[in-house]
Amino acid sequence: MSTVGGVLEREHRIIDVGITILAGADPTDVSANQRMAALDAIAMLRRHIYLEEEYLFPPLRAAGLLGPVMVMVLEHGKMWPALDELERLLGDDAFAAAAALCRNLLEQLAAHNLKEERILYPQAEEMLTPGDLDELDHLLATAEIPAGWVCGGVAVD
Ligand SMILES: [Fe+2]
Ligand SMILES: [Fe+2]
Repeated sequence: MSTVGGVLEREHRIIDVGITILAGADPTDVSANQRMAALDAIAMLRRHIYLEEEYLFPPLRAAGLLGPVMVMVLEHGKMWPALDELERLLGDDAFAAAAALCRNLLEQLAAHNLKEERILYPQAEEMLTPGDLDELDHLLATAEIPAGWVCGGVAVD
């Protein structure tokens, strides 16, 4: 029995917690731990998007779920520049703007994650081959995002 859907859902919860910590922080008194929680959540969300786009979505697309996958990729494409901006704001100690962006990102994630958890992840458990599910399970435990990887929904000049 695969655990892919469960692992991806758990990552959603962990990422939410990290972003929520900064969203609710006092911008005049952000601790090193609060900043690190947000940076860790950003890195985890980038890797999560990478694994979805490179290993989960292609077999779902091949199985006919073109529309739902396209919507997810477009939503990733809206989040990705927000993650760049959030890292920049944290680097500049611009915590009020960073907290506001975290609140916006949490709204985007709430809608996005719900669709993945209700539609795409259950479909993945049914549609992916046992070999694909095993590979994804292994990657979720071990993979690192390649340097310079950018999600497919970001418009490239
Ligand atoms: Fe996603
Ligand atoms: Fe996801």
